[in-house]
Amino acid sequence: MRLTSAGGVGLTVAALIIGTAAVPPAGAAPRPTAAAASVDYQAEDAAITQGAVATNHTGYSGTGFVDYTNVTGSAVEFAVSATAAGTAPLAFRYANGTTVDRPMDIAVNGTVIASAVSFPATANWDTWATRTVDAALRPGTNTVRATATIANGGPNLDRLTVGAPADTTAPSRPGRPSCTDIGPNTLTLGWPASTDNVGVTAYDLYEHGNKLAETPGNTTTKVLTGLAPSTTYNLTVIARDAAGNASPASVAVDCTTGVSSDPPPSAPGAPTVSGVTATSATLGWGAATDDKGVVAYEVRSGVAVLATVTGTPPATGTTVTGLACDAPFSLTVVAKDAAGGVSPASAEVSFTTGACPADGGVPGSPTTLSSGWTVPWGIAWLPDGAAALVTERDGFKVFKQTKSGTRTQIGTVPNTVTTDGEGGLLGVAVDPNWSSNHYVYFMHTASEGNRIARMTYNGSTLSGYTVLLQGIKKNRYHNGGRLAFGPDGHLYASTGDGQTPALAQDRNSLNGKILRMTTAGKPAPGNPFNNYVYSLGHRNPQGLAFDRNGRLWEAEFGDSKYDELNLIKPGANYGWPTCEGTCGTSGMTNPKATWPVNVASPSGIAIVRNVVYMAALRGTRMYRIPINGDTESVGTPTSYYVGTYGRLRTVAKVPGADQLWLTTTNADNNGNQPDGSDKILKITIG
Ligand code: GCU
Ligand code: CA
Repeated sequence: MRLTSAGGVGLTVAALIIGTAAVPPAGAAPRPTAAAASVDYQAEDAAITQGAVATNHTGYSGTGFVDYTNVTGSAVEFAVSATAAGTAPLAFRYANGTTVDRPMDIAVNGTVIASAVSFPATANWDTWATRTVDAALRPGTNTVRATATIANGGPNLDRLTVGAPADTTAPSRPGRPSCTDIGPNTLTLGWPASTDNVGVTAYDLYEHGNKLAETPGNTTTKVLTGLAPSTTYNLTVIARDAAGNASPASVAVDCTTGVSSDPPPSAPGAPTVSGVTATSATLGWGAATDDKGVVAYEVRSGVAVLATVTGTPPATGTTVTGLACDAPFSLTVVAKDAAGGVSPASAEVSFTTGACPADGGVPGSPTTLSSGWTVPWGIAWLPDGAAALVTERDGFKVFKQTKSGTRTQIGTVPNTVTTDGEGGLLGVAVDPNWSSNHYVYFMHTASEGNRIARMTYNGSTLSGYTVLLQGIKKNRYHNGGRLAFGPDGHLYASTGDGQTPALAQDRNSLNGKILRMTTAGKPAPGNPFNNYVYSLGHRNPQGLAFDRNGRLWEAEFGDSKYDELNLIKPGANYGWPTCEGTCGTSGMTNPKATWPVNVASPSGIAIVRNVVYMAALRGTRMYRIPINGDTESVGTPTSYYVGTYGRLRTVAKVPGADQLWLTTTNADNNGNQPDGSDKILKITIG
């Protein structure tokens, strides 16, 4: 029963578009200039069911307020206009001069979107307060109804203020970038602009998954400096707006810097080694010469960098730490000059590190379990412990891989798409009760975003694709993707920020999170925020493993500075994007270990005998990180197989054995190896 509906009068189409009144900078895309607006709807003008307009108290706005009849079901219904779909804050101004709460159900377009919202006492009937709930509105007229849920009726209601809807529209994809003015150490990247309903505030420039630079939103070129000569850079541009919405990534382009005319340094003199311990060695070498001076030496194992010494001139020796114990090393040293020139390698120095401590064992030499893979990503063991399911990221295929080395394709995951980056078919988990339900879970990229889906594996093929959770934002990079069952029988999933960092701090977003859900795809009982979120503040987490105390460890990629190993606690905030690595911001939980992104970039982790093993992509190595007993701290990380097997993706413990499976990711556009060149390696912990 509608009595009046004057609230929408005078609301123009522009009034609900949030925007900025600033004049667009020259060259920027045209943008709407309507100021952010909120609109008041007076209760006395709305449709009243069991209540009366009154003026017997002070402090109301408009011409009065609604005194709800003191019965369950008394209600006021507003007609609210919206120009576009979006989530808007609904602020109810009320007074409650009693000492007892007067909860009301808030319904939008006939559906209760917030039940029994508290309208607590406000000291007296002349004292007004505001209760706000967020509601999704549709374009055009919406009904907003506040209905008393107890026999005391509702409070006195003065008005409803509908705030400007949040901007949830991302900028459009930037056009194809191109490189000009290419020199040995510099190039200029340019791209056709993105458009946005409000305005592009910045462009982020990525080299693979790491951020290289950013420009303001009114600038569509960037001079990149400090580049290495004769080096190919794979560049992507992503636009973002003031609300933090990120565009889809532009096409990625390869640009190769020019040949340097500056002569590189001479090779350093042959290194010698002294002071070899179980995990370190001290190296010294002869100085290299350069026409303008050496600026750095790098100690290398093959092409992988183990240590960098800088200075003018840099010292001709260093102690290399974090080495694998009881392991052979053959290292060389190169010199670099300010122009990015790299000398020939020095002669090799060879040594074997000292005996290993007896604290959880150390990984032995890998053997090849199976080859012919193209970016194998997820591994999940079947309950019999004789075989695991393994996903391939870019081909969306699922295989059964036995311990004895046999590989059989069992199906593909439908509705999967690539992001021409890090999305595709990602994690897999086998239901702990697989023998009775035959359920297998996948995390994968789909047309609308990332999903968690379930299929049935009857022992030979996959079928019965069912979506459990969708709406996880995707982008070229930062899709997370790991799935793992906890000792509590619930499914844990790691989600990336989808290149929209602010989502990682939003408890109501599925992105930048560890999620915890039931096998039916519902939020697991006991979750800290009564939704899917288990922990927040993550950038691109891809490693999940539970330790002997049932605690969850997690590894995630940093932006351009630090990768992290975290110990996950329910409800804790791991900092991104406020913190990258360790920081002092209160309310943020610091990592247990960090690494510069160039020596790690971690994906999977596994735990054997209280030691965390972490597979590193850019770092082309596997880290061994001992947990200090049952404490929350870890000991010194050490590196294994540096540079030997290329980029390492996933490490998984073999059930019932002190063994690991370790997968490579060389057949992607970062590794540049042909399809089929990836492997699953087998490692015994000795
Ligand atoms: C008093 C008060 C009214 C109020 C009512 C109630 O009568 O003056 O404004 O609505 O209490 O308890 O609901
Ligand atoms: Ca926008």
